[in-house]
Amino acid sequence: MSIKGRIIVCRDYDDMSRRAAEFFAEYIRSNSRAVLGLATGSTPVGTYKYLVEEYRAGKLDFSGITTFNLDEYYPMAPDHTQSYRYFMDTNLFDHVNINKANTNVPDGLCADPKAYCEEYDRRIAAAGGIDVQLPGVGKNGHIGFNEPAPYLVGGTHLAELKDDTIAANSRFFDNVADVPRKAITMGIDAIMNAKNVVLLASGKGKHEAIAALLSGVYTTEIPVTLLRAHSGLTVFCDENAYNG
Ligand code: GLP
Repeated sequence: MSIKGRIIVCRDYDDMSRRAAEFFAEYIRSNSRAVLGLATGSTPVGTYKYLVEEYRAGKLDFSGITTFNLDEYYPMAPDHTQSYRYFMDTNLFDHVNINKANTNVPDGLCADPKAYCEEYDRRIAAAGGIDVQLPGVGKNGHIGFNEPAPYLVGGTHLAELKDDTIAANSRFFDNVADVPRKAITMGIDAIMNAKNVVLLASGKGKHEAIAALLSGVYTTEIPVTLLRAHSGLTVFCDENAYNG
């Protein structure tokens, strides 16, 4: 294995979710004003469930926490049931004592995406940067919506989604034609500049991406491989993602 960080191979999805939640819970307990970078998709659902349980058990306080989500479809209304804002509210924010004003999810209806993206990066910088960034990984190795490409963009930007990502995400929509073809996503800089990165991967479908991360190559054609260079990386993956 040749990553700078560490990899923790978990028994299954539930074990991965519990251990990743423990990592976040410990961090929040030691830094009540932490800035968290959060992700959507099916992978972090279990982690958020455990964090809500910890909160309900009186073991976690989110009142001083600030969050920045990685991405949001564009165009996408925040109250649409497939928006990432809706996902975050229903999976985490509505169930803990976080101040919603301190939760940032890119605005899928912003009129001027370029100006908005610059503003999103300024907000991250003003918050002091991200302490712990949680990315998931797409089957094609994308992180956030940084899709495989000959080069990647540093800052938050409006990205075109690849057909395989649209196909993969269509499971959440009635029809593949309903999946937005664009998204606002944090760029590689915000992810790489996070003090800690907690990468989650579950299931055989993620094996190729995890194998690429561990293989020793860096390529923007598999964006997750760039995380190999991050010394604060912790990968929580289950045996299916690790072994294929
Ligand atoms: C989407 C999101 C990513 C996420 C990926 C994997 O495309 N933009 O942030 O990591 O899907 O999703 P899942 O966890 O459902 O496999």
